[in-house]
Amino acid sequence: MIILAIETSCDDTCMALLEIKGQKIEIRNNIVSSQVKLHAKYGGIYPFLAKREHQKNLPLVFKKVIKGIDVAQIDFIAITKGPGLEPCLWTGINFAKKLAEGIKKPLISVNHIEAHILVNFIDSNLQKIFPAICLVVSGGHTQLILMKGIGKYKILGETRDDAAGECFDKTARILGLGYPGGPAIAEQADKLSMINNQLSIKLPRPMIFQKNYDFSFSGLKTAVLYNFKSQPIKIRKSKKYIQEMCYEIQQAIIDVLLLKTLKAAKKYKAKAIILGGGVIANKELRKQFKEKIKKEIPYSKFCIPDPGYCVDNAIMVGITAFYHHKENKKTKQHIKAEANLKI
Ligand code: KG4
Ligand code: ZN
Repeated sequence: MIILAIETSCDDTCMALLEIKGQKIEIRNNIVSSQVKLHAKYGGIYPFLAKREHQKNLPLVFKKVIKGIDVAQIDFIAITKGPGLEPCLWTGINFAKKLAEGIKKPLISVNHIEAHILVNFIDSNLQKIFPAICLVVSGGHTQLILMKGIGKYKILGETRDDAAGECFDKTARILGLGYPGGPAIAEQADKLSMINNQLSIKLPRPMIFQKNYDFSFSGLKTAVLYNFKSQPIKIRKSKKYIQEMCYEIQQAIIDVLLLKTLKAAKKYKAKAIILGGGVIANKELRKQFKEKIKKEIPYSKFCIPDPGYCVDNAIMVGITAFYHHKENKKTKQHIKAEANLKI
């Protein structure tokens, strides 16, 4: 079985070609056409600019992704329907619809958040890992989800304001670092040598000790802004200040995500902890989650995608469509963009 998957919910035009051999999912082709350079100029994503780029890129990416195969071999097309930026979602959906009509193949729509979770199932043995606790952390979302099986999800908590990725992006902008902010902050944080070094900056860990599973990151961003503005220009621009600030931003975000995830995993006796979303590409976060889970809940399986599959890609869309197709074989032709779609 061959699946062509398309993802355009945000600023990257992504397409992948997956081949299913028995229970094995093989990646035949995977293309991510990044718009980062374009949006970096503005320090954030402009939906209509992103839409225009998707329109331009989709036919080019399609040509590349199907190289070496006959389109008649494609069994179905998978497309993200939401959540995401509405103009961008529509661009992908319209392209996918036309293509599906053209080659007379079914179209399966996918939830982007679920796709960030199910990318973990690319080669894992799915048996006996439920209930699982999933943490999805991206530029637009921060959610803790109880998963009882494919398609069976309950949101336990989510951010009340900014997503964790958004906090990385906005604080990086305050500090004059590049876009996207997550990798830029991680790079500066890595440079800090902590030998004999006591951090002089202390940021809040919003909602960390509250009983619920919700998050809030806008207060963290404001704390960074106030601290930054209170410093003399010479200090603000110093390597030491920037590195210490980045270290502390990254650690504050990790502390909150880790503590709440472990709390949920213990409460629901999770057999697995599943991570997904762009922020999960963060090296330090991956390390600290791995160590803490091993120490505190060694009976839980720890599932984490390769960093390249944490950020948006079409492989995750194809995998999600595959599992849904396998379970209920439902295909829908009248698909519409759902910018605020929930899992
Ligand atoms: O999942 P994703 O690619 O797109 C959305 O669905 O939003 O996530 C993008 C987010 C951005 O906020 C970006 O700054 C963050 O993921 N990100 C990271 C890292 N790589 C990407 N955050 C922290 N550390 C990273 N290494
Ligand atoms: Zn995403």
